[in-house]
This record gives sequence, structure tokens and C-alpha cells, in this order.
Amino acid sequence: MVLVLIGYMGSGKSAVGRELAEKLSLKFVDLDDFIEEKEEKSISSIFSEKGEIYFRKAESRYMEILLTNAEDTVVALGGGTPCYGRNTDVLLELTANVFYLKASVGELVKRLSREKQHRPLLQRLSEEELEDFIRKHLFERNAYYLRAPHIVEVDGKTISEIVDDIASRIS
Ligand code: S3P
Repeated sequence: MVLVLIGYMGSGKSAVGRELAEKLSLKFVDLDDFIEEKEEKSISSIFSEKGEIYFRKAESRYMEILLTNAEDTVVALGGGTPCYGRNTDVLLELTANVFYLKASVGELVKRLSREKQHRPLLQRLSEEELEDFIRKHLFERNAYYLRAPHIVEVDGKTISEIVDDIASRIS
């Protein structure tokens, strides 16, 4: 069984994924960590040294490697992974257990203003720019995220409530 979590930065993919894997006795892999391990560089360094296009190509390649070899694993993709190339097609051909962790713009702004320093796409934005950026970016990405067979609303829920919701929908 392979379960995949998608959603915008800050939607909780890693925290939910870890707890979900524990509850179901599955392994947990975060695609960003997998990329960092394979490339022997942090995501921020890949962006700053090699650029976003290099990162997106690597991300697609590693997503496919990770998902085609995964067994009994919860995989958290990066926020942008479903939105480039054929990634969502590839993903949906492999599993129907794809869960979009859907957070509102307000919730994402609240969470990301605390942690934008580690995120290459956000770190140069001021507090005032952050909300407009997220609103526009989420609007553009929604078409990809909403292809997920399962939409999981996360605002106002605890991690364990989200985990229980996902666990009840696994096919
Ligand atoms: C990105 C999200 C990040 C990481 C990279 C790009 C994006 O992952 O892959 O910084 O395009 O939304 P998280 O969603 O795990 O922060």
C-alpha cells in the first residue's frame, strides 16, 4: 500500500504523513528529504546553486523513482510536485490513494510567515507580500491539487483528526 500526501507548503504534509505512517505501521518518506539525500544538498542550495528548472527536473525524476519502488509507505510530496510536467498523471497511474491537504489562504499565511526563511520560493517576500503571493500561487496550483481523489480539509483540525480522516478513506 502506498499513500501520497499533496498540498501547498505549510499544509502539514510531513507532520501528518509521519503520524499516519506510525498509525498504520507504514514507512514514511518525504520527497524533499529524498532529493536532499540523493543530491547531497539542501533544497535551498539546489535552488540557489542550480536554479528552479534544475530542481523541477530532479523533483520529477526522484518522484518517479520513489513511487515506483515504494512499498507500504506514506509519501509526502513537495508543494509544487503535482504542478509540473506529467507528475500528476504519473502519480494517479500509480495509486488512487492521493490526499490533498487543503488549507485556506489565511491558515497558510499564519503558518508560513513563521517559517518562510527555509523556503526558497518565499524567503524574499515581505510580510505584506506574502498573503498576495500565496493567494495567487494557490489559485494557480489548485487545478493540479484538485485532481487528487481525496480532498482533506485541514483548517482547525488537529494532526490526529486529519490522520483519522485519511485512514477512514483508504481504498
Ligand atoms: C516547493 C515546496 C517545498 C520544496 C520546494 C518547492 C513548492 O516543499 O519542494 O521548496 O514549489 O511549493 P514543502 O511543500 O514540503 O515545503
